[in-house]
Amino acid sequence: MKSKEWNLHMKKALMKPHLEKSKQRVENAYQKNAKYYDFAVKVFYPLMGLRIDEYRKKAVEYLNLNEGDFVIDLGCGTGLCFPLLMEKIGPNGKLIGIDISTEMLSIAEERVKSAGWSNVELIHSDIEEFKFPTEINGLISTGVFGYLGKRTEVLEKIHKALANNGKIVIVDGKRPQKWPSFLFKLFVKLSSPYGLTESYFENDTSEIISRLFQNVTFEDLYGGLLYITAGEKHQNPKITN
Ligand SMILES: C[S@@+](CC[C@H](N)C(=O)[O-])C[C@H]1O[C@@H](n2cnc3c(N)ncnc32)[C@H](O)[C@@H]1O
Repeated sequence: MKSKEWNLHMKKALMKPHLEKSKQRVENAYQKNAKYYDFAVKVFYPLMGLRIDEYRKKAVEYLNLNEGDFVIDLGCGTGLCFPLLMEKIGPNGKLIGIDISTEMLSIAEERVKSAGWSNVELIHSDIEEFKFPTEINGLISTGVFGYLGKRTEVLEKIHKALANNGKIVIVDGKRPQKWPSFLFKLFVKLSSPYGLTESYFENDTSEIISRLFQNVTFEDLYGGLLYITAGEKHQNPKITN
């Protein structure tokens, strides 16, 4: 490695000593492609029959939010869930959006400003390092959990942070049993600008969700490539360790 390249490499490593390689790769992907994200979700994926807006609406309905509620959007990206959430919680509620990518967050910030919402807080953080506030009424996470290595830990923290009767909803990816392998590989390839790899789809959260939450629902979406799962805080969860 030439010395200039080495300096740059070291600088990057020093800037984010806490981020392991795969996380850094995902963050870089979103930093680089944030400006195309809304187009991809609103135009490109729907051309393939992926009705993301519909899944988003469905997810927000599962939370059963009320006016004045406190809600977290985990891995909020550009804030595409915000209008639906804000419609439910109104000006007296509180919404916190968390994301690892400052570029995604700056688009979310524009959305917040142009809507004139004063009760939305955006936090730049790695979800796995985030210290959750308590008394959360609802937590939504769409298209994020597959990126996380410490899913059990994060879900246990969320369980603790939810208010009694607080709800969680996750929309995410899983390996589609009925898809021909070439189609699955093609989908992964087309999504690689956003750091998706096949391993993203091995990270189904259903078993952990069923241990920690009650009244759990689980439904396949998009021929089994996606799932939506929701549940309510369980008073006697099965916590590991
Ligand atoms: C597919 S996008 C989903 C964005 C938004 N939830 C939506 O539905 O449009 C995934 C988001 O998760 C964020 N993300 C990935 N890993 C993360 C981590 N470890 N901590 C915080 N955010 C993360 C990315 O930066 C990106 O904005």
